[in-house]
Amino acid sequence: MKASVTSLAVLFAASCLATSELTLDKIENDIKTSELRNNLWHFQKIARENGGNRAFGLPGYKASLDYVYERAAIRFGKEIDTRIQPFNHTFEQTRKIEVRGPDGKPVYAITLLYNPATPVDGVTAELVNVPVDDKNGSGCLPEHWVGIDANGKLPLVKRGVCAIAEKLKLARKAGAVGVILYNQTPGTDYGSATLSADNIGQLVPVGLIPLEVANSWIPRLTAGEKLTSFLLVDSIFETRESWNLIAETKEGDPNNVVMLGAHLDSVQAGPGINDDGSGTTALLEIMGSFKKYKGFKNKVRFLFAGAEESGLVGSLYYTKSLSEAEADKIRFYFNYDMIGSPAPFYRIYQSQNPGDVHGASTLLEYLTSKGKPAEIAGFGTSSDYVGFLNLGIPSSGLFTGAGAPQDPCYHLKCDTLENIDWEALTVNAKAAARVAAKFALSLDGVPPRNKTMATPNLRGRANLLEQFERWARVEKVAEESHSCSHHKAVMV
Ligand SMILES: *[C@@H]1O[C@H](CO)[C@@H](O)[C@H](O)[C@H]1NC(C)=O
Ligand SMILES: *[C@@H]1O[C@H](CO)[C@@H](O)[C@H](O)[C@H]1NC(C)=O
Ligand SMILES: *[C@@H]1O[C@H](CO)[C@@H](O)[C@H](O)[C@H]1NC(C)=O
Ligand SMILES: [Zn+2]
Repeated sequence: MKASVTSLAVLFAASCLATSELTLDKIENDIKTSELRNNLWHFQKIARENGGNRAFGLPGYKASLDYVYERAAIRFGKEIDTRIQPFNHTFEQTRKIEVRGPDGKPVYAITLLYNPATPVDGVTAELVNVPVDDKNGSGCLPEHWVGIDANGKLPLVKRGVCAIAEKLKLARKAGAVGVILYNQTPGTDYGSATLSADNIGQLVPVGLIPLEVANSWIPRLTAGEKLTSFLLVDSIFETRESWNLIAETKEGDPNNVVMLGAHLDSVQAGPGINDDGSGTTALLEIMGSFKKYKGFKNKVRFLFAGAEESGLVGSLYYTKSLSEAEADKIRFYFNYDMIGSPAPFYRIYQSQNPGDVHGASTLLEYLTSKGKPAEIAGFGTSSDYVGFLNLGIPSSGLFTGAGAPQDPCYHLKCDTLENIDWEALTVNAKAAARVAAKFALSLDGVPPRNKTMATPNLRGRANLLEQFERWARVEKVAEESHSCSHHKAVMV
């Protein structure tokens, strides 16, 4: 009697365990295109109902956060722990931009993030052509400004080669009142960029116009004709609060954490469905799969980062805030930013840190087995992995390309549901799910955090702290220049 009760109990326990045991195949099969699409449909709806975007400091971001919170904290609350991490950053929004040509007529112009304001009535000034050096760019080096009388004028500068902020700093030093920047390629379907909050107080206002328009002015300028232009930038700067959402499985060892990150914000220009709805929906579905299983060894943590498009602000805040001991517990970081580009390549990140290969090789094997032309590539400096690399945490991730031809809608209004290759998104989400499951089951062979920072990207914790000191300084400058422009408004 006793024996049979025991064996029944064992049987019951065994069958229970069997249905909830995590395997790589089960988690892979849980990832469905229809569900990946469903989340993206909601993100597009959120953008549509909130001024067309889900950007830092604006209501579409908060609605996106609420969507993920409802999933993680409410629906998955029994198996997932969720916390919200608030942070502040300087927000900028250009309320109006106007460029007029020598004939006084408005020309097509777009703004850049953190564009300083002109006086309220704008500036009218003489145009001065800054020559184009194909090798070193237009206006990129101090030498490019030698012999150009830009004082009190509007230099005409070509985009490209160096950061736009560098051109605007040099223009300011040369006494310019603003810059008319023209695009490198024809047409008007070009994207914006960030001038970065770091540069607040060091730049002149800018309007970005089409190549064709500049090309109609340049011959007249080089022939010695005097042409004037008009620039108006009406922008506001203020500190706004934003949030990271961090969710993790209750299951698994808190001292050995596998981490997956995607950014939850978009640019102000569009809904951000590929950038980075794609990574976000993958994380949501992987989290929804993990919650069904028990008995895995290591904890799995999901970072939904805020304000990435403003300069990786949320993820840098998260990594900066980790104690040395907490950073040690993060055994691997996977970055998923833009994993469904419409004409994708399949790049897998790996640095010189010897730990990276453990994640990268698993991703490579899986994608190759599915017939994808996957390739190993280095990290750049433009996504949320930067903070993790700074801490020497072994890292990898996937990237399918930004800008034409991979993603011609990069940072544009057309980054919608139409801007996704569903096959690429699905296979990448499955790859991400499998490697997360593999590491949840075992981190055998994965080395600890590498504290000797050897490459330029691995500059250590001091670098993270310096970044936040810079931002704290510019926050003050932004507030002061805000009151200055009010002052000017009264004086004009
Ligand atoms: C953000 O700024 C607000 C207003 O100054 C302040 O109350 C809040 O504590 C700040 N939050 C953080 C995380 O620093
Ligand atoms: C442009 O770059 C090249 C090498 O890349 C250099 O030799 C040259 O001096 C540079 N030109 C200027 C104007 O600095
Ligand atoms: C840390 O990374 C560097 C390369 O950046 C490498 O040369 C070194 O061997 C690594 N150290 C450990 C302990 O993994
Ligand atoms: Zn992105």
